[in-house]
Amino acid sequence: MGVTFALVSLFLLSVSWVSCYAASIHEDFGQCMSEHLTGKPHPTENIFTPDSPTYKSRYDAAQQNTRWVNSTVPLPKPTLILMPNNESQIQAAVLCSRQLGLQIRVKSGGHDYEGQSYLSKTPFIIIDLVNMRSIDINVEEQTAWVQTGATLGELYYNIGTRTNTLAFPGGLCPSVGTGGHISGGGLGVLLRKFGLAADNVIDASIVDVNGRILDRKTMGEDLFWAIRGGGGASFGVILSWKLKLVQIPATVTYFNIGVFGIENVTKLVYKWQRIAHKLPKDLFIRGLVATKKTLDENKVIKDKTIKVQFESLFLGSKWDLIPLLNKTFPELGVKQEDLQEMTWVHAAAFRLGGGDETENTLDMVLLNRTDIYRSSYKGKSDFVTTPISPEGLEGIWEKFLEEDTQVYMIIDPFGGQMDNISKSALPFPHRKGTLYNIQYLVKWYNNNATTYSRHQKWMKDLYEYMAPYVSQSPRAAYLNYKDLDLSSNQVGNTSYAQAKVWGEKYFKGNFERLARVKSMVDPSNFFRNEQSIPLLPTKGTKQFH
Ligand SMILES: Cc1cc2nc3c(=O)[nH]c(=O)nc-3n(C[C@H](O)[C@H](O)[C@H](O)COP(=O)(O)OP(=O)(O)OC[C@H]3O[C@@H](n4cnc5c(N)ncnc54)[C@H](O)[C@@H]3O)c2cc1C
Ligand SMILES: *[C@@H]1O[C@H](CO)[C@@H](O)[C@H](O)[C@H]1NC(C)=O
Ligand SMILES: *[C@@H]1O[C@H](CO)[C@@H](O)[C@H](O)[C@H]1NC(C)=O
Ligand SMILES: *[C@@H]1O[C@H](CO)[C@@H](O)[C@H](O)[C@H]1NC(C)=O
Ligand SMILES: *[C@@H]1O[C@H](CO)[C@@H](O)[C@H](O)[C@H]1NC(C)=O
Ligand SMILES: *[C@@H]1O[C@H](CO)[C@@H](O)[C@H](O)[C@H]1NC(C)=O
Ligand SMILES: *[C@@H]1O[C@H](CO)[C@@H](O)[C@H](O)[C@H]1NC(C)=O
Ligand SMILES: *[C@@H]1O[C@H](CO)[C@@H](O)[C@H](O)[C@H]1NC(C)=O
Ligand SMILES: *[C@@H]1O[C@H](CO)[C@@H](O)[C@H](O)[C@H]1NC(C)=O
Repeated sequence: MGVTFALVSLFLLSVSWVSCYAASIHEDFGQCMSEHLTGKPHPTENIFTPDSPTYKSRYDAAQQNTRWVNSTVPLPKPTLILMPNNESQIQAAVLCSRQLGLQIRVKSGGHDYEGQSYLSKTPFIIIDLVNMRSIDINVEEQTAWVQTGATLGELYYNIGTRTNTLAFPGGLCPSVGTGGHISGGGLGVLLRKFGLAADNVIDASIVDVNGRILDRKTMGEDLFWAIRGGGGASFGVILSWKLKLVQIPATVTYFNIGVFGIENVTKLVYKWQRIAHKLPKDLFIRGLVATKKTLDENKVIKDKTIKVQFESLFLGSKWDLIPLLNKTFPELGVKQEDLQEMTWVHAAAFRLGGGDETENTLDMVLLNRTDIYRSSYKGKSDFVTTPISPEGLEGIWEKFLEEDTQVYMIIDPFGGQMDNISKSALPFPHRKGTLYNIQYLVKWYNNNATTYSRHQKWMKDLYEYMAPYVSQSPRAAYLNYKDLDLSSNQVGNTSYAQAKVWGEKYFKGNFERLARVKSMVDPSNFFRNEQSIPLLPTKGTKQFH
């Protein structure tokens, strides 16, 4: 297979790129696939064109963020949706897309904040990895091979049903895909002890622009570095990850405590900022700030205030946690009955109302691939390096109270192991010196031109307000909370100099190395989108096209 593909790609490189948008593009694609695969007609059961009865429902279901539904600007629909059953089909799809002048959007969990796994302004296909999600756990070796169509919930479930003492340090939402999440970094409740998801990848398999399957050894350390935090979409189609599982106690302690009222929230968030990154590595406490409405008997809003939920995972027993909290964060007033001991995998489900003692079972929560928060939303991110003053915090709450829809600010503490990993070890540079990460979210359920622009504007205002309080030069951002406002280009062909504006926000000094890797592995800039890694400028030649 490898030899066939190498030959085919040589052939492809020598023909000119003729874009063919005739009505027969679907036939051409099917024909091309069949030539690369068996030679027999390509089975239609996993290629969906606009003629297929299920094309529309599949395309709609892909959109975990509904912000583009009801859009007044019509977006091109995918030429086709491919749901491959095997790796050869992905190799062939890369070659056939190049040959036919189509872009590729790879979808794992579909949670991209800017819809980049299912939207494109130029003709494209979607490769939906939903059928590529095998998970192979090796308890003795403490590793797992995971195909990138698998979600975090599927991974956690598979680990947790095999053993209580191994875990994987990734994000909190079970429907998030391992394809996008791990290639973008991946932060969750275990990061203070074990770092990011990307810090715990030990091998990977990827289809490159020439349709070859490469592993860590054959792709080389540069590309292997780039796909662990630099985003997969710029470099190829990642097929699977080999993950290092981490050792945890069989019982961990979970709590989730709400604090209400502007004064209380300010006081506690202000305190949290100064301690959360310095706590022992076994203790992670995040905050979720939101508005809280009180309704009267006619369901009319009587009162609106601010709340913060402090959600925590402690790698130890509640008897060890009580004195620790009493010493470090007594203002939180945690009582013994607030603390629940359980296994790590139950904690992963419990926060969403699942687990043995709740109405939903572990599998119902962890194996459901639909985002329970599915809605229209816009997100942005910041990193904080010095605590925000109480007045600064109160200004945020004021903005929150002005907005009439759901708004959130999620604060995730760093420190611990994050301080101990060099800023250039992986593309993710936000390490020592970062106190915490902020994610801002605004959500709404009826998306139309009015709501869309109103909520987007609110988010822009909030982001402007935050400027003096957060990291500077550059004002850093987290790739997994992708934000095209940071500046982008319609078709992903920005020059290096233009791309540097957002590139250095996500990657700081690592941006240039990412562009070097990109130039090496995808010199024709085939894998591109609105915020893909650009090629390095080459002296004296016109850059692209
Ligand atoms: C409800 C919710 C909760 C979240 N919680 C967290 C959290 O706790 N921590 C955190 O760090 N982040 C979190 N995120 C952000 C999340 O990590 C990113 O949105 C991530 O990129 C989603 O990955 P995905 O596979 O689901 O998305 P997709 O939209 O499928 O992919 C995201 C990007 O990666 C590309 N891609 C996907 N798979 C591949 C592949 N196999 N090869 C090449 N490129 C690929 C896509 O083309 C796209 O550009 C959350 C997001 C949501 C919506
Ligand atoms: C992959 O799937 C395609 C389409 O079903 C099939 O033609 C091909 O033989 C399969 N290849 C392998 C290696 O299983
Ligand atoms: C603030 O906290 C105090 C002490 O826990 C509590 O009594 C009070 O009700 C809180 N205020 C609001 C508005 O909830
Ligand atoms: C918390 O610490 C105070 C003294 O600092 C002590 O009086 C109290 O008993 C402690 N409470 C718990 C639950 O450990
Ligand atoms: C999966 O989650 C979605 C969103 O919360 C829900 O609508 C759906 O019923 C769930 N499916 C199953 C099988 O539980
Ligand atoms: C940092 O890493 C080194 C080497 O892996 C280890 O010895 C040390 O304990 C770590 N320190 C922290 C604070 O994690
Ligand atoms: C699209 O608009 C219709 C009509 O206003 C509305 O009912 C629907 O909820 C909107 N869809 C989304 C995803 O917001
Ligand atoms: C858009 O949605 C909002 C919120 O539901 C609604 O009040 C408004 O009338 C809608 N506007 C249009 C033009 O449909
Ligand atoms: C990017 O593509 C657009 C449309 O094809 C083109 O007008 C523009 O000049 C290109 N920009 C660069 C930097 O190549």
